[in-house]
Amino acid sequence: MTALTLSTAAAPGLRADAIVIGVAKGTKGPVVAPGAESVDKAYDGRLAGVLETLGASGAEGEVTKLPAPSGFKAPLVLAVGLGAEPEKDAGYDGEALRRAAGVAARALAGTKKAAFALPLVDAADAGAAGEGALLGAYSFDTYKENGKDAKARGGKAPLAEVVLLGGKPRDRAFKAAVERAAAVAEELNRARDLVNTPPNDLNPAAFAAIAQDAAKANGLKIQVLDEKALAKGGYGGILGVGAGSASAPRLVKLSYTSPKAKKHLALVGKGITYDSGGISLKPAGHNETMKCDMSGAAAVFAAVVAAARLGLEVNVTGWLALAENMPSGSATRPGDVLRMFSGKTVEVLNTDAEGRLVLADALWAASLEKPDAIVDVATLTGAMVLALGNRTFGVMANDDAFRTAIHEAAEEVGEEAWPMPLPEHLRKGMDSPTADIANMGERMGGGLVAGLFLREFIGEGITWAHLDIAGPAFNEGGPFGYTPKGGTGSAVRTLVRLAELTAAGDLG
Ligand code: BES
Ligand code: MN
Ligand code: ZN
Repeated sequence: MTALTLSTAAAPGLRADAIVIGVAKGTKGPVVAPGAESVDKAYDGRLAGVLETLGASGAEGEVTKLPAPSGFKAPLVLAVGLGAEPEKDAGYDGEALRRAAGVAARALAGTKKAAFALPLVDAADAGAAGEGALLGAYSFDTYKENGKDAKARGGKAPLAEVVLLGGKPRDRAFKAAVERAAAVAEELNRARDLVNTPPNDLNPAAFAAIAQDAAKANGLKIQVLDEKALAKGGYGGILGVGAGSASAPRLVKLSYTSPKAKKHLALVGKGITYDSGGISLKPAGHNETMKCDMSGAAAVFAAVVAAARLGLEVNVTGWLALAENMPSGSATRPGDVLRMFSGKTVEVLNTDAEGRLVLADALWAASLEKPDAIVDVATLTGAMVLALGNRTFGVMANDDAFRTAIHEAAEEVGEEAWPMPLPEHLRKGMDSPTADIANMGERMGGGLVAGLFLREFIGEGITWAHLDIAGPAFNEGGPFGYTPKGGTGSAVRTLVRLAELTAAGDLG
């Protein structure tokens, strides 16, 4: 785990492997961002010119390395692009700082300690930069040559120590912002680990066991329903999806309660530890990354633990709907009818539309507790990826104001989200001649159809939103900003923000 601290030290005297500075894109070339004055001074005030000579423009994602000036204790200065220079009197955007810090941390993999001299105006800036650095300093190498350290096998260990310069270590707001950043980033990185863990090791029981350990470590209440308890309780959706697998399904309920809570937020995550499609098998080319289909449950898990670590004054219940979707002689068939936990029956027309089936049971279970709001998170549909691309999640809700609030919360924490409708006319496409509803409807607007299906399993009068993270949950391309290849931890920061807003009485 990368350490994060604040320091008032001046850059020149600091013992570190690198000093990170910001460079912005000005109208007439690169501009050294505030926070790096002492560094610029050591280059005789010519740092912007030096950077321009080296080809730097200040563009987002750009990294320029230069030898530190004489007298510096650190050997290297790393200039990271911040994008366009803000208008006069406007500060740098939190997300620009978060991304730049992430890029710098990634570029410094293999080194131990870096001091970040970025333009931090307030505590929120320190939090954003710290969060970006810790998220950029991520690597997943559990499965690389056992027993050797990262260097020995030719890889690079993540940056071990991040020092934020220019922050105020004794200021309560700065301290709190850095603590928050560390808690959120560490839990988010844990969610990434879960997503990246191969499905032969992370089956539903293994995920539940990890949740049990985390509950113990963080003082959470936990209840795990195994296949016997699920059968006894009538959880036909979760059992139906898990029926084909040698690894039985689980429903995990994680509860964080605060003595000062006035509100209760329920979070529900899709936890398909592997989605083969079941009998409606996915073709090759569509199943290689389907270990990521538990990203929603991982995000919910991380958010509940983060809420506990932060001591938020709100009750947060996390529901992890865990199953493996496999074809076999015992698997659910297209044409089968499942009796769900809510009592409704579902005709399964396509076993690859499994996420909505496990969520339906968990949403109904969450509803029975009458929380102030329910938010579910799921890698639910390929249609959402077609609609919004692979960096934006869709937000649907049964309440317009709630949907808007979630969109705004996402934007606040630097996650790209977009509101999507739940058009009533698409509901009849799921009419079934045999059961109360089918698990598939019209192909067009498939992401919205899935949202409409989920809505059927929300208790009367409960505010609910659905986040379809199928696009951003797993990065198949190269790393960018603070986002690595593989599991991204999508939605964790938005969920933590929602818990904070609920605690403050500003949501639900
Ligand atoms: N897990 C998939 C959705 C998905 C697709 C996640 C791409 C991440 C990346 C989901 O279970 C699924 O298979 N959905 C089907 C639904 C269809 C059969 C109605 C889909 O989107 O094709
Ligand atoms: Mn599927
Ligand atoms: Zn799925």
